[in-house]
Amino acid sequence: MYLIEIQNGKIFRANAGETLLSAALRANVSLAYSCRSGRCSTCKCKVLNGQTKASHDELGLSQQDRDEGWVLSCVREPLTDVALIADDLQDLDLPPARTLACRIQSLQLLTPDVMKVVLRLPPKSDFRFHAGQYIEVMGNGGVRRSYSVANAMNESQWLELHIRHVPGGVMSQFWFDKAKENDLLRLNGPLGTFVVRHVAGNDLVFLATGTGIAPVKAMLENIHTLASDQMPRSVTVYWGGRVTGDLYWQPPTEYAWLQFKPVLSREPAFAGRQGYVQQAFLSEHSDLAQTVVYACGSPEMIAAAKEASMSAGLPDNSFYADAFVSSGVE
Ligand SMILES: Cc1cc2nc3c(=O)[nH]c(=O)nc-3n(C[C@H](O)[C@H](O)[C@H](O)COP(=O)(O)OP(=O)(O)OC[C@H]3O[C@@H](n4cnc5c(N)ncnc54)[C@H](O)[C@@H]3O)c2cc1C
Ligand code: FES
Repeated sequence: MYLIEIQNGKIFRANAGETLLSAALRANVSLAYSCRSGRCSTCKCKVLNGQTKASHDELGLSQQDRDEGWVLSCVREPLTDVALIADDLQDLDLPPARTLACRIQSLQLLTPDVMKVVLRLPPKSDFRFHAGQYIEVMGNGGVRRSYSVANAMNESQWLELHIRHVPGGVMSQFWFDKAKENDLLRLNGPLGTFVVRHVAGNDLVFLATGTGIAPVKAMLENIHTLASDQMPRSVTVYWGGRVTGDLYWQPPTEYAWLQFKPVLSREPAFAGRQGYVQQAFLSEHSDLAQTVVYACGSPEMIAAAKEASMSAGLPDNSFYADAFVSSGVE
């Protein structure tokens, strides 16, 4: 057993062979994370003192990150007591994850390769989550895959998912070829720390590609319930696809506070914005002092958007992301 201390003085215990992130979550210490497999870099932190070892490749780190001493808490195990530079997100008050049974309420094709799945939870399950978080669905044979919840929390206890078909994918085959209404599944969640913060008075910019619109939709539902003095100064969504048919969702007309801007990369005849979401965002926002960016979807978009936004003057700690990296354990 090792003692792990983070810079705000909070201390938790980690077992030998346990990752720093797992130990923190077990002790109800909220460190930033998303994929939990060393791919997305959301859990990047620095070891100030002590020895650790990587239990898997830290694919989410660049060579520069490694040279500067960054590690990924989701795949790092302590070998001694450790002092860590990592943010404690206790203010977000994230509910602990738990495992629940659920049933498929409905399945609906939104495009030829995107399925909307609604999961029904047991009536008294009281499943609490923050808009933007994801769940892990457990399929046959121990398969687990992560999906963002596309709705804000509601009393009727259902969860909407937007699932893209990945050719040859194990769970894709289940959702698109085998799944039926009323099928029984298990889920684990809520998971992840991609939740809206720094809202009041700021300019919120959401960048999404493909099914990355799912957690954005949930966050918008949540913003719509805010009192007027808690509202952001502005809210803009840039949603990217290749062609018009990829854009399967429209915001409700009552979101008068929202600027919704589709961006297409492979439809030259499209009269709207062409190219990539980060290009459209930066060509239309020059003063970024009050801007907070939430990006979700492909890891390529997120990396490009972060680099371009920071170069354009986005303040530190104003870029939050959830990368839809492969959640299959390989
Ligand atoms: C935090 C998080 C949230 C996610 N939320 C969503 C969501 O809301 N909607 C959604 O559609 N997906 C989401 N994903 C991706 C999802 O979890 C699965 O990884 C994806 O659906 C593929 O699962 P599969 O079983 O069909 O394919 P697998 O059997 O896991 O993979 C088949 C092949 O495709 C490759 N592959 C798998 N996923 C990807 C990918 N994303 N990009 C490129 N190659 C890939 C694998 O490496 C493998 O070679 C999320 C991932 C994470 C980490
Ligand atoms: S790399 Fe650790 S949570 Fe994604």
